[in-house]
Amino acid sequence: MNRKPIFAANWKMNLTLAESRDFPQKLDALLKEVLGAGKDYQVVIAPSTTHLESLGKSMGSTAFELGAQNCGTTDFGAFTAENSPVVLKELGVRWVILGHSERRHIYGETNALVAERMQACLKHDLLPMLCIGETLDQRKAGDTLKVVEDQLSILKSGLPAGWESRTAIAYEPVWAIGTGETATAEQAQEVHNRVRAWFSENFQPNVASQMRILYGGSVKPENSEELMACPDVDGFLVGGASLDPSKFANVISNGLKSRPA
Ligand code: PGA
Repeated sequence: MNRKPIFAANWKMNLTLAESRDFPQKLDALLKEVLGAGKDYQVVIAPSTTHLESLGKSMGSTAFELGAQNCGTTDFGAFTAENSPVVLKELGVRWVILGHSERRHIYGETNALVAERMQACLKHDLLPMLCIGETLDQRKAGDTLKVVEDQLSILKSGLPAGWESRTAIAYEPVWAIGTGETATAEQAQEVHNRVRAWFSENFQPNVASQMRILYGGSVKPENSEELMACPDVDGFLVGGASLDPSKFANVISNGLKSRPA
């Protein structure tokens, strides 16, 4: 297994411009101090759209990658409040979080809409980070795997060739997001393993073995080592604990303790 771990910060609608400005430098210095060289991993920071330009500039001297939290379905047009993938690309965005549960559950985004956004992303060589995950009621009803497979089903058609190597999945059980309640390592591994098997069944085994499947939902420095020790967990999508550079650095460094150098 040689999947490079990804640690992605989802800032959601948090931090002022002033608060975010020196974040990349602080995080970079902390990671260099704790980890030094020799670990191979990627860091993505996804601020709100309003911060993309200034954060992109202040990230300049680091190896971090810029992420957006969503992406419009078409290049340009009369779509109030949407953000053009063309302009995201122009701003230096590399990754786009898609289908986050807050978009699905608060703003009613459907699988069909998420699929359109994903096509627009890939058209402009932006890398989708597709979020999937069940609600507490769905878990209690025993529907977890059915729900995540339904969310994954948008990958089965309409995407350009080569999407597999440019896409990452983030499994985020809705009941664990922002609640302080994390899935146990066993619960995370069970779903991640099933998601990987789904890729094998629906595509090729190499698609499954290469797909990066991140976990998200109340990840913090205290649980990142245990979660990353799961063989099918390839990194994290982190909300609350990504707002503070030292917490996020600890999520990353503790997580990497479970990985051979
Ligand atoms: P959380 O959010 O880490 O605050 O639970 C994760 C997410 O929603 O991506």
